[in-house]
Amino acid sequence: MSRSAPAAGSAHGAEPPGGSSPGLVVVARELVPLCGDAPRWPGGRETRFVAADEPLPGGYLARRVEAIIPLLSRPIGAAELDALPGLRIVSNYAVGYDNVDVAAAAERGIVVCNTPDVLTSATADLTWALILAAARRLREGLDLARSGDWAGWRPDELLGMGLEEKTLGILGAGRIGSAVARRAPGFGMRVVYWNLAPNEILEREIGARRADTLGEVLSVCDVLSVHLPLTADTDGLLGEAELVRLRPGAVLVNTARGEIVDTEALAAALRQGRLGAAGLDVYPDEPAIPAELRELPNAFVLPHLGSATREARRGMWELAAVNVRRVLEGRPPLTPVG
Ligand code: GLV
Ligand code: GLV
Repeated sequence: MSRSAPAAGSAHGAEPPGGSSPGLVVVARELVPLCGDAPRWPGGRETRFVAADEPLPGGYLARRVEAIIPLLSRPIGAAELDALPGLRIVSNYAVGYDNVDVAAAAERGIVVCNTPDVLTSATADLTWALILAAARRLREGLDLARSGDWAGWRPDELLGMGLEEKTLGILGAGRIGSAVARRAPGFGMRVVYWNLAPNEILEREIGARRADTLGEVLSVCDVLSVHLPLTADTDGLLGEAELVRLRPGAVLVNTARGEIVDTEALAAALRQGRLGAAGLDVYPDEPAIPAELRELPNAFVLPHLGSATREARRGMWELAAVNVRRVLEGRPPLTPVG
């Protein structure tokens, strides 16, 4: 592992004698399996690996930090930005960037980047895994198969919801929402979407229909899939009042951010059987997965695996690193946000 800073051992001392030390790129230590232990940066800048549960460099080291590649679990707010006075870019290793205070970064002239596109198909595929798992009761099937108590094929065993001729509701028709929608005709599903702007490509390609209101999508869909970013507007967007508007037996899937769906209202709807099933990959307070959701037989829960393919995670590293290199070379980054 590269612990390349000259004074790595001597925590918060004064600046070492000799003057101009090279700049530092702080990289989440969890990325070493993807980037190796010595990623290269322009101008001989060095890497400082920092694990998610470790603090960012302080003392004189803090002044050398020019770039940071954090995981989505590390909040980067005004205090973190102010503690790194030489910072030029936050290159988030995620497509979502709700962990970064983008406005505070902009005020300080710091670029924020994310990793779109490279994880779109991985996340869309996992969304379909959850749609199928929830609609076809795979959790209960797996539990039964593993229990050793299966009594043999029965005509009425664990009947789920067929997808053909049903309606898929998509909240947020950006890259991932669109990729999920594009897979729907393969299952014979119609698509209704809710998005600030019309997505004409999606309408032309698969005949998707744009709903005027959230309430309209809720009332017409059989499967609802969430693909919105977490913002002040989407935090708690789907609460009890919204969930009751879903058709009885509908399936809800969330691979976006846990905060968008009210966990208690969701658990209640699943418990009462108003919602048929849920497929969930994200939670408001990760790594905690609410106990009720873990226990309910009609909740199919995964530990935030949306982009978890070798290809996507590698592509995310490459994109995050290219953005850092470009900014350090004075060129525009490929995927800035905001
Ligand atoms: C994962 O949730 C991401 O935003 O990339
Ligand atoms: C993310 O890239 C999205 O647009 O959904």
